[in-house]
This record gives sequence, structure tokens and C-alpha cells, in this order.
Amino acid sequence: MANIVIIGTQWGDEGKGKIVDLLAEHADLVVRFQGGNNAGHTMVVAGEKVISHLVPSGILQGKACLIANGVVVDPAVLIEEMDYLQGKGVSCGPQNLMVSERAQVIMPYHREIDKAREKKKGKDKIGTTGRGIGPAYEDKVTRGGLRFVDLMDEQVFDEKLAAILPEKNFLLQKFLDAPTVDAGEVSQEYKEYARRLAPHIINVSVYVSRAIEAGKQVLFEGAQGTHLDIDHGTYPFVTSSNTVSGNACCGTGVGPKCIGGVMGVVKAYTTRVGAGPFPSELFDQTGDYLQSKGAEFGATTGRRRRCGWLDMVILNNAVRLNGLTGMAITKLDVLGGLDRIEICTAYRHKGRVMDTFPASLKVLAECEPVYETVAGWSEDISGIDRYENLPDPVKRYLARIEELAGVPIQIISVGPQRDQTIVVENPFSSGK
Ligand code: GDP
Ligand code: IMO
Ligand code: MG
Repeated sequence: MANIVIIGTQWGDEGKGKIVDLLAEHADLVVRFQGGNNAGHTMVVAGEKVISHLVPSGILQGKACLIANGVVVDPAVLIEEMDYLQGKGVSCGPQNLMVSERAQVIMPYHREIDKAREKKKGKDKIGTTGRGIGPAYEDKVTRGGLRFVDLMDEQVFDEKLAAILPEKNFLLQKFLDAPTVDAGEVSQEYKEYARRLAPHIINVSVYVSRAIEAGKQVLFEGAQGTHLDIDHGTYPFVTSSNTVSGNACCGTGVGPKCIGGVMGVVKAYTTRVGAGPFPSELFDQTGDYLQSKGAEFGATTGRRRRCGWLDMVILNNAVRLNGLTGMAITKLDVLGGLDRIEICTAYRHKGRVMDTFPASLKVLAECEPVYETVAGWSEDISGIDRYENLPDPVKRYLARIEELAGVPIQIISVGPQRDQTIVVENPFSSGK
């Protein structure tokens, strides 16, 4: 039995929430290791839709859910989410939901700076979620951040806040033309959060390591997608954390030996929300078809997602960067009704064919997708629960993806509901 990391292979919103919720049945612990409430993970169980931004997607299965040190946490959002889940009868007590004492706290000035910077950038904006994610990670790296361990100590928190605020307010007022932040108000507000969250704050590294030693199974839940990774994505149109599987270790405080498998979640086509290059983007009726049939609106910001064909250059980049041992193909039902389907197998740049992902955004913007055409299908496959019963063109599409990626497809998702899924192979039983 293995501990599994689940990550997005494209630009986020691949359906990670659904897959984590499904596989959490076989896990004892579910750990979020990076990102923040820029994520929006959707689970649909018995017709009811639940979206989580911070709480790991194992919460509906009643598993121990941990928010680890690599996550930036907005305490107001976390509390709101706990209340929302508890309102739906989902337990979020200290036994179910734990937060690392080393996780960074998102502060009001992080949100203000994020939004004001985007406004100032105008047409060059990144299209962030405006949740303060980038500024919070910036402070972590410049060693000016506040961690939950600081939040738990009123004196330390106030002292650190007093030291930080003059610089933040100077930036907000003098450069960004944005509202400043009042130390007294923030201190008051965050003390309330501290009181509410105190029972949940633990050493996540120790908790997870002891659980692994005791033979428990861990599912590490990634947020965003490989091409939003700060090092490996379409920089600067990326998020501010490492989204690849390797960060499950740093972001949790465990060693690489404990990882037994890495499942990449792959949308059967490609979407992107926010700005940045997207070579297989469609600007025609097919793009609109995917957008509307796939209900492609952001789960966090409600923005319309850009849509295009499956891109094997980026998928193979994700295979290598994450060391994928298996794939979950999602939203396959959305492709039904198309006569033909294109797979982008390479890029053409100034007459040269490339099958690796260029670092230069200028080059990437000049790349033309090279397509291979496969047959589509007209059937509605959203009720099919066995691989054998899938129409032949669907099987051929899947086989071609497997062949091009060199990684087995272990899960096929044909609808948003937990039970609209074909499990070809359970990654928890197939891992090392
Ligand atoms: P995540 O951020 O990777 O967890 O993905 P999101 O939740 O942001 O977006 C995925 C969307 O697709 C959600 O609305 C899901 O309910 C939905 N979804 C997931 N899998 C499927 C599927 O196989 N078919 C369809 N039609 N919808 C799906
Ligand atoms: P999940 O986990 C899709 C995108 C934003 C923007 C860029 C930077 O639901 O897949 P940020 O607020 O992180 O500084 O924004 O990253 N982005 C996502 N896109 N899914 C996500 O998360 C995303 N999280 C951030 O749209 O382009
Ligand atoms: Mg999402």
C-alpha cells in the first residue's frame, strides 16, 4: 500500500477535488501542501455540490484533513469554510481538521496589495484570484511573514505586526494608491481568529510522519496545476508556489521515501483561467461548445475559463516534472457530440517541430500547435460505469493518450458526481 500525491497536470481545474474525494475513501489522512484559497475544488456527492478552497477534499469522507506548512492560509476564509461545511453536517472539529503551526497567515494587506498591483498593471495583469496569495508567499521568502505559531501568541503577533505595517502601508498609500491597514483593527480581528482556530493548530510534519510509521495511508492533495508552478510553469503567468508533486514533501515536512505513487489529473481537453499563453486554445464554436457543455466557469472567481484541445506537450511535461505513475482522465463526457477530436502532439516554431515546452513566453506565443485527428463519438457516456461499455472511439482516444504519455490511465471520470467514475486500477493498491 502506498501514499499517493494527486496533482493537476495542466493549468488547474482539472477535477482534482472530485478525484481526491473519491480516493479519500482508501486513505486515512488527506493533506493539502501548497497554494491557498486561490484553489476551488468541487465535489458532488448524492447530487449535492460542495466547493472547498482550503479544507482538503477528504473532509466529506470523514478523514483526518491537514493543512500543511506549504499552504498560505487566510484565517477568515478558513473559518467561513468550516462554518459552511458544518452547516452541511460535515464535521470540522480539531480531530478532523488540523492546520500547521508553520503555515503562513494571509493578512489584509496581502489581499490589498494583490488587487492594487493587478489594477496598476492594467492590460499586463496576471489575472490573479486577488486573494493575496502572491504577496503572502513573497513575505514568506523575504522572512517577513507571520505564521500560525505567531498568531497563537498575542504579544509576538502584535510586535511583528507593528514592525511589518509601516512598510506595507507605505507601499499601499504611496505607490499603489490603495487603502492602508490599521494595526489595532487587524490585531483585534486576528485575535478572534486565533481563539477560534487554536485547537486546530498542530505540528503537521510530526502528525503525518507518525501516522505513516503506524501504517496509515496518506493522500497528498495538490492545488492549481503543473503549468501554474512558480518554477516550471508559464512564468510570470503562474501562481506563487510549487505545484508539482515534489513539493508534497517540502510542503508537508516528510521525506520523499514515503511517496509511493503520483496521480496526475488530466482534463480530456484543456482549460485556463487568467492570462498567459495557451497554444491549443480554441476561439471558435468548438471552444464555445466545450466551455458551455463543460460549464467552464472558475470555482473561485466565477470567471469564464478559456478552452482548447488536449495538449500532449504540456501533458508530457507534467509526466516528467511530477514523475507520474498514473493518470485520472476527467470530463470525458464533455467531448461527446463532436465529429472529430484533435490532440496537440507537438508545437511548430518557425518551421521547427518541438515536443518540449519552451521557457521563453515569446517563443511559446509564436508556437503553432501540430494536431493529430481522432474520431469523436455522439453517445452520452455519463452513465457508463465499466470500461468495457465505453464506445470504441472513446477507448481509442484513451488508448492514444496513454500511448503518447507512456503512463497508465487508472481512473476515467464521466461526470461530476462521485459515482460517475470508472476505476480501472486503484492507485492505492497499485503503488509500491
Ligand atoms: P479542481 O480545481 O481541479 O478541483 O477542479 P474544479 O472543481 O475547479 O473544476 C472541475 C469542474 O468539473 C467542477 O465543476 C466539477 O464538478 C466538474 N467535473 C469534474 N469531473 C467531471 C467530469 O468527469 N465530467 C463533468 N461533466 N464534470 C466534471
Ligand atoms: P485549482 O486548485 C485555476 C491562476 C489564476 C491566475 C494565476 C495566479 O482550483 O485548480 P494567484 O491568485 O494564484 O496569484 O493567480 O493562477 N490560478 C488558478 N487557475 N485553478 C486554480 O486552482 C488556480 N489558482 C490560481 O487564475 O491565472
Ligand atoms: Mg478549481
